[in-house]
Amino acid sequence: MPVTEALRIIDEDDSGIDRAFRNDVLTGLAQRQKAVPARWFYDERGSELFEDITRLEEYYPTRAETEILSARGAEFAEAVGEGAAVVEFGSGSSAKTPLLLSAISPAAYVPIDISGDFLRASANALSEKFPGLPVCPVEADFTRRVTMPEAIAGLPRLGFFPGSTIGNLVPRTAVDMLREMRETLCDGAEHRARLLIGMDRVKDAAVLERAYDDEAGVTAAFNLNLLHRINRQLDGTIPVESFRHRAVWNDDIARIEMHLVATRDIAFTVCDRRFTIHRDETIHTENSHKYTRRSANALLLAGGWTPLRHWRDAQDRFMLILAEASEMRMAP
Ligand code: AVI
Repeated sequence: MPVTEALRIIDEDDSGIDRAFRNDVLTGLAQRQKAVPARWFYDERGSELFEDITRLEEYYPTRAETEILSARGAEFAEAVGEGAAVVEFGSGSSAKTPLLLSAISPAAYVPIDISGDFLRASANALSEKFPGLPVCPVEADFTRRVTMPEAIAGLPRLGFFPGSTIGNLVPRTAVDMLREMRETLCDGAEHRARLLIGMDRVKDAAVLERAYDDEAGVTAAFNLNLLHRINRQLDGTIPVESFRHRAVWNDDIARIEMHLVATRDIAFTVCDRRFTIHRDETIHTENSHKYTRRSANALLLAGGWTPLRHWRDAQDRFMLILAEASEMRMAP
């Protein structure tokens, strides 16, 4: 079955410069606690480094989630049923998507991604693996409501959001995104939409800090690449060698925080704007929230999803949760 041409729902800047990147960096570096949103890690080099991270011995989430998907296929099939349209938030370049598709025999697959090239490549690869499956890619920002392709009209919809990517959002933003996903999946649907979402579990701080500060320095390179990207794309003069990577568990908020720590007092420019940072001051670059069953349920409920089932890997490190769109009714 051929891959349909990607539906394109992107508002592009014709100047060629990513205005959103520029705006986030200039605003973030001017704050008292300097910060740049984690989504800007993923240029070509950043995406390669992230792929390397997923293969690290210390970085367990990818292996743990893959283990659940491999081991529990029959249970997913029973819970979800055959013939659904699987709508993946982010395009499935990993081994995880084929595991889900093989288990539940869907009627169509709709990957949504903001990166058109990446989307087309992974849609083609998926289509080769599943020759009879209609693949309908949509090039869009899935943090906002996305219009679904005509091809899946009338089919029950299962959202798929693996990887604990939800954990990179602060709760307020995560709730907003879950609500948008609900809109995307419920709009015009004849069946109650469902969502299969991966969430990393709270665990020993030492295990978590190792996962985000590996021996080989791959996560450090991933973090520092953000500064290289700023220098390259925003005409920056940041002395990257004068920053070091730090990953620390924040127990009050149940999240790993990644920072770039200045090792001396530094002055630099980005887009001709001047910034200073003192020795030991940091640029906050990522949060990775970890969840208990209860905190995961609370987040999903706030986002308009009622949890139905939880699956965990054998070592209790990661969970996949199946939820259904909550009925909109008055609370007691
Ligand atoms: C993409 N995201 C779920 C990863 C995480 O674990 O928070 C990103 C990452 N950052 C450092 N290592 C991996």
